[in-house]
Amino acid sequence: MLLAMCDYCDCRDVAPIRELSEEHDAIGVIAARVRRAIGDGDHAAAGAELRQLQAALAPHLQREEAGIFAQLAARDGFAWYLSTLMADHASARADLLGVDPDGAGWDGRVLAGLDALAEHISLEEYDLFPASRMMIDDHGWAEVIAAHERLRHAAAAPAGR
Ligand SMILES: [Fe+2]
Ligand SMILES: [Fe+2]
Repeated sequence: MLLAMCDYCDCRDVAPIRELSEEHDAIGVIAARVRRAIGDGDHAAAGAELRQLQAALAPHLQREEAGIFAQLAARDGFAWYLSTLMADHASARADLLGVDPDGAGWDGRVLAGLDALAEHISLEEYDLFPASRMMIDDHGWAEVIAAHERLRHAAAAPAGR
């Protein structure tokens, strides 16, 4: 797998990568607030921040899976790589999205989930995105953009539709 720093390969020139990278930045900011609130022992604040994290993370995972992951899955040689990324997403869903922010006793589980998420985001930024930029052609990027748009419209549609 290609190992290159995004800052050197201009990944952010590609609109869907720029969108996902900006989401990574935003998720990182919220994650830091969750950590700080847990560290301060302020469970109510940590729960409120965790709810924000969940709202940002859930659609982000969906966009990656429906967009870039789906494009790479259609190409040879990415099955094992994608399975590791999907396992990370499953862990994030279990340890971060699967926690009730109003519940109790989740501090350790969430902190471990945030550590794993930070590693996952680094892998995407420094490996997945540069590789995607090289492997996905213009038609593929159009499909990634369409998948992102579909999910955005589905999220905006009134419930029950
Ligand atoms: Fe991801
Ligand atoms: Fe991501």
